Formats: sequence, C-alpha cells, structure tokens
Amino acid sequence: MSTFPTMRLRRLRSSAPIRRLVRETRLHAAELIYPLFVRAGRSVREPIPSMPGQFRYSPDTIVRECERALKAGVHAVLLFGIPSSKDALGKSGTDPKGVVPQAVRAIKRALPELVVITDVCLCEYTDHGHCGLVREKGRKGEREKVKTVDNDATLPLLAKMSLVHAESGADIIAPSDMMDGRVGAIRSALDKRGFDQTPILSYAAKYASAFYGPFRDAAGSTPKFGDRAGYQMDPPNVREALREIEMDLSEGADAVMVKPALAYLDVIRAARSKFDVPIAAYNVSGEYSLVKAAAVKGWIDERRAALEILTAIKRAGADLILTYWAIDAARWIASD
Ligand code: PBG
Repeated sequence: MSTFPTMRLRRLRSSAPIRRLVRETRLHAAELIYPLFVRAGRSVREPIPSMPGQFRYSPDTIVRECERALKAGVHAVLLFGIPSSKDALGKSGTDPKGVVPQAVRAIKRALPELVVITDVCLCEYTDHGHCGLVREKGRKGEREKVKTVDNDATLPLLAKMSLVHAESGADIIAPSDMMDGRVGAIRSALDKRGFDQTPILSYAAKYASAFYGPFRDAAGSTPKFGDRAGYQMDPPNVREALREIEMDLSEGADAVMVKPALAYLDVIRAARSKFDVPIAAYNVSGEYSLVKAAAVKGWIDERRAALEILTAIKRAGADLILTYWAIDAARWIASD
C-alpha cells in the first residue's frame, strides 16, 4: 500500500464558496470596453439584425446607452461611425460635424467621467469599404488595371480623422486600419496640435478574420471588391503579431490590441509575455453572434458561455476586453 495520501484536487471544488475563494481569474466590469455604433439622426435606436441585442444609435440616444453602461460599472466605450454618405475618399470620416464627433461631444458633455475611445479607419466611410485609399495600378494602355490599397496616401487621412476625434473630446484614439506607419503619423499629428496627452490604443495585431462578418453587416463596410488580406494579418501567424506590436509601440502606441480574441488566445498570451504595455483583446461580432444565435435556438446558455469566453480571454492575459456583452457581463459579474 502506498504511504502517500490520496491526491484530492476535488477538495477545493467541493462547494461554491470554496470555488469562489480559490478562483485564479476574475473578471471586473472596470476592464470592459463597450463598442457602440453611431449613425445620423435623432431618437434613433435601430436594431442590428446580425447582432441581436446591439443597435445603431443616433448621437442623442447613444448618451442614454452610455449612461446605462456607466450604471452597470462599465467605464469605457468605443465608437464606430456609420455616416449617411460614403465616397471614395471617406470624406465624412474627417468632418468635424460627422456622426462620431457629434456623439463624442454629446457623451462627454453628459458623462465627462466616461472614457470615450474612437475607432479610426476609413472602411466605415468609404464607398468601396476598404480601410485605406484605393488606387488603380497598371501601365498606361494596359487594359487590366489592378486596384490596390495605397498605404502611404492613407496616413494623412487617418491622422486628420484622429485629430477631429481628439478635438471633439475623444479620450483615446484607436486606429484599426492596419496601414503601416499610421501610429507614427497619428502621434505626430496629435502632438503638433497639443494633444500630446491623448493615448493611442492601436489595433496592432488585427487578423483578416471571418469573425468580423456581423460587424460588416452592421456598419455596411464589406469591401466591394477583393478582401482585406493585403493589410490585415494572416491567421496562422503569431510571430508576425509580435512584430506588428513592436512596430506600433516604437511609433508611440500606448496600448495595443489583439483582434479577434477567442481564436487568438495564444497571440494574447504571447503579447502579454513579451510586452509590458496594456494588452486589449477584441471579442468581435462573430464571437458574439455565434453564441447569440445558438442561445436564441435554446442550444446554449448565453450567460455561461459568454462569461466562459470572457474569462478565457482574461486568463490568456488580456488587461482590457472589448465586448458587446459589456453591460450584461458587468451585471452577471456583480450578481455572481
Ligand atoms: C474596421 C473594423 C472592423 C472591426 C472593427 N474595426 C471590421 C473589419 O476590419 O472588417 C470588427 C469588429 C467586430 O467584428 O466586432 N475598421
């Protein structure tokens, strides 16, 4: 007979109070960021079919939703603009009277303590749906012209959009376009105009993912031709993500993001191990809508599945989590 005592790992799982006591990972409402869509109009709260429970808000109704978030303990929102007009240059994105600047002003006026982060990218504002300016390449006389996204020509527009957001009162600027060099361009534009204290949260490791499907439907930003694989990252790569992060940090990013989150937990872990800056992870639309759709069918318990996903993202090493469940999660955490 063995002289060793029998291993009993189950002792620490024997009751809910003990489990709660020895839990290694805990979610806090204060680390959640709530993404919101703002569109033109008044008194609008339009449901997004591909994202049950999410809405497109006009600048007045978004303030009420932000108030709801604050009351639940969520202290930060991320705004996406859905303009009423789109063109090839994404002009509505740099308009100081555009939907995002309007919403930022309204939110900051009513709720100055709420951290307002703005997404900076051309795709919501361009008619072709790409994240940068599109140029036709090809020699004169050649019939086949190739359309490509012009990285460097896009940078001044992103810098201008960031400045417009900062001037309207945005607390943090979050570029999601994946153009090379945009963090540096945005940083110097902000610094030059006195916004040297405005942090940049860069979507540094953003993958070309199928999980953005519901978002593109919500924002009407599906590319009209081609795809985003030319500038967003290839899903199998993790070392490249670390290079992306390194580059953005060297250009002045204050915090970085991994996106999507659930299929990239190893990337979050690798980023957490290598860098000391805050790491954010974006629990994207597809990750949300998969659970929602199954929950509507009665196939999955939404609350448990959502909390399990968010806990996994935290366990992987994320400091901040962007999630459409932010308000629900904050309430679930409080009553847990
Ligand atoms: C683009 C942007 C996207 C998302 C955030 N910013 C879409 C894309 O790259 O196609 C996706 C967010 C989500 O799926 O929840 N500016």
